[in-house]
Amino acid sequence: MRRLPPRTLRGQLTAGLVTLLALACLAVGITTALALRGFLMGRLDEQLTASGGRFAASLEHEAKPDGDNRPDTRGQADSTFGARLLNGTIQAAVVDDTTDRPLSLSPTDHRVLARIPVDGHGHSIRLSSLGPYRVTAVHGEDQDTMITGLPLHPVEETVHRLEAVEASLFAAALVITGIAAALWVRISLRPLQQVTARAAEVAGLPLASGEIAMPGPLPDTDPRTEVGQVGSALNHMLGHVEDALTRRQASEERLRHFAADASHELRTPVANIRGHAELALRHHEPVPAQVRHALERIDGESQRMTLLVDDLLLLARLDAGRPLEREPVDLTLLILNAMDDARAAGPEHRWLLDLPEEPITVTGDAHRLQQAIGNLLANARTHTPPGSEVTITLTVGQADVLLSVSDNGPGIPEELQPEVFGRFVRADHARSRATGSTGLGLAIVHAVITAHGGTVTVISSPGHTTFRLTLPA
Ligand SMILES: Nc1ncnc2c1ncn2[C@@H]1O[C@H](COP(=O)(O)OP(=O)(O)OP(=O)(O)O)[C@@H](O)[C@H]1O
Ligand SMILES: [Mg+2]
Repeated sequence: MRRLPPRTLRGQLTAGLVTLLALACLAVGITTALALRGFLMGRLDEQLTASGGRFAASLEHEAKPDGDNRPDTRGQADSTFGARLLNGTIQAAVVDDTTDRPLSLSPTDHRVLARIPVDGHGHSIRLSSLGPYRVTAVHGEDQDTMITGLPLHPVEETVHRLEAVEASLFAAALVITGIAAALWVRISLRPLQQVTARAAEVAGLPLASGEIAMPGPLPDTDPRTEVGQVGSALNHMLGHVEDALTRRQASEERLRHFAADASHELRTPVANIRGHAELALRHHEPVPAQVRHALERIDGESQRMTLLVDDLLLLARLDAGRPLEREPVDLTLLILNAMDDARAAGPEHRWLLDLPEEPITVTGDAHRLQQAIGNLLANARTHTPPGSEVTITLTVGQADVLLSVSDNGPGIPEELQPEVFGRFVRADHARSRATGSTGLGLAIVHAVITAHGGTVTVISSPGHTTFRLTLPA
């Protein structure tokens, strides 16, 4: 399997450093081995030239029938090779401490020896019985050729020795450098980890809403280092983000104030319009039917507007985090009251109750909770056909109270469900306006229950819609 290169910057830097060092070691190793070999060869050649074919010349004596049958080995280094070439025939001998063996040469050796250029320079050859040799050939006195050779194996041995020493030294250097580089890179990149951690911290913040405590700037931002530059860029960006957040928050605040002020300001004129319409309707003198109808419309619309303005004001106040009342609320009683109202408003619906024996009490704002439950029951009444069945269930869990309102009406359109708790969200705008629905009912349920520390969810399909509220017990 192919090993993938390390992916972290730390790994890459360390691996890069070690690879470069390994290449440098290899280059140094090869160069020194070649240089040493060249130097030793040069010395060997000098030695051969100095001997000048003396040893080979002494082989002449061997040919003499009466003579001492031994070549002159005085002053010759151990393993010196000598050969004399006369008319294509070769006599050869080697200097040896232990045996004075006459050298037997193979036909290949004969060919190799005969091919050596007679130039007095060093040449490397390999003899079958002796191994690698460095030889020179010179012309003798009686048209013969003198070949002198010295073994190459001491040179090879020295070079191999050097290579072995270098290899172990370089290996140790690579291991030590690898460890040191890993540590060093780790230390130098440590500020980068801080940058990453800070960026991740900010990325995890819920920047979209509410008041946000941004983490402080990074301390290590030396502009002379790359990591410092990254840190300083991040600090810069964090500054901008913080700035934008502050502005967003201020603008949200202004908007909330505006909504609260506007709905508050609208209350008085709406109440006045309503008061005057009622007053005019109570007039005893006969009023033309058209005028009466107009007055009745004004009265009706101003009533609706009062409700709308109240809803808007409530939402604006809840948005602004205005504290709610915190008093014990008998939830069972609240539900019974809401049920009575619902029965009166929708006598054609079937209203069912499933309450525990014991009365259930929560802490909160009775008026707002009543409003929330009333909104859910109003929805179950207005968005289902007459004859539908509506069930309220109250159960007590371990830490919270669960209230659910279910009906078997047509259900909430699927595309509406994700945003059904939004403001002014309703199924059919044109029809809704005519029927007086604004789309604020569920938004108020959501805001009230959330302000109580509870949750609201809805599950809806045709024939089955359930709103589930939880409130801390
Ligand atoms: N029980 C339900 N069955 C079917 N649809 C529902 C039900 N409850 C809510 N909806 C849908 O959700 C929309 C939003 O409800 P919401 O109570 O917020 O507004 P609304 O009832 O239209 O107006 P408002 O309550 O402000 O008078 C409704 O218009 C309706 O389409
Ligand atoms: Mg409603």
